[in-house]
Amino acid sequence: MPATDLPFQATLRDGHQVLLREIREADRPGVLEAFDHLSDESRYTRFMGSMKSLPEALLDDAVHPVAGRDFVIVAVAGDLLVGGARYTGIRGRDACEFAITLLDDWHRLGLAPLLMETLIAHARQAGVALMEGYVLASNRAMRRLARRLGFSDAPCPDDSTVRIVALAL
Ligand SMILES: CC(C)(COP(=O)(O)OP(=O)(O)OC[C@H]1O[C@@H](n2cnc3c(N)ncnc32)[C@H](O)[C@@H]1OP(=O)(O)O)[C@@H](O)C(=O)NCCC(=O)NCCS
Repeated sequence: MPATDLPFQATLRDGHQVLLREIREADRPGVLEAFDHLSDESRYTRFMGSMKSLPEALLDDAVHPVAGRDFVIVAVAGDLLVGGARYTGIRGRDACEFAITLLDDWHRLGLAPLLMETLIAHARQAGVALMEGYVLASNRAMRRLARRLGFSDAPCPDDSTVRIVALAL
């Protein structure tokens, strides 16, 4: 069972050490810096559209999770935020929606499953019934990761370029 008690330190496949912890207000500059380092492709797959800069409202949301509704974790290596993942409760449903982003150089090192497993364990512990995510149909890495974690993968009724992945918790 993955650790839900944050913070915790993990060693990745290539030997890098990362610290997983909840986000805080002081991470604001770090989130902006991480966004600047993201490739256009990663920005596109995360936000499903081209995004040249991170809108202030999204940044505010990221560093001010609402207790009992949102949960946001970051992976830190040295001074750099190298990954982040969040879920947020969906209004009117016993469900939450996740999102995850890693810096491009930190793909395929085992960090993504670690962040997702931590999110899932936390949501389960919080009593949320379902976790879902909207993923571009072309996003093979996210869809494979979700499948490996037990998510179903279904077409989005409104948009054939998007899939909805879902996991009963
Ligand atoms: C989605 C993301 C977090 C996955 O991270 P990752 O480190 O590549 O994840 P993994 O290494 O666990 O790879 C997941 C699976 O996809 C495969 N994969 C990775 N990159 C791939 C690629 N470019 N094409 C096809 N398959 C790929 C891996 O081999 C693995 O498959 P396996 O389980 O059969 O071995 C990362 O790609 C990312 O940050 N992307 C930008 C943001 C984004 O798309 N977020 C998702 C929407 S919220």
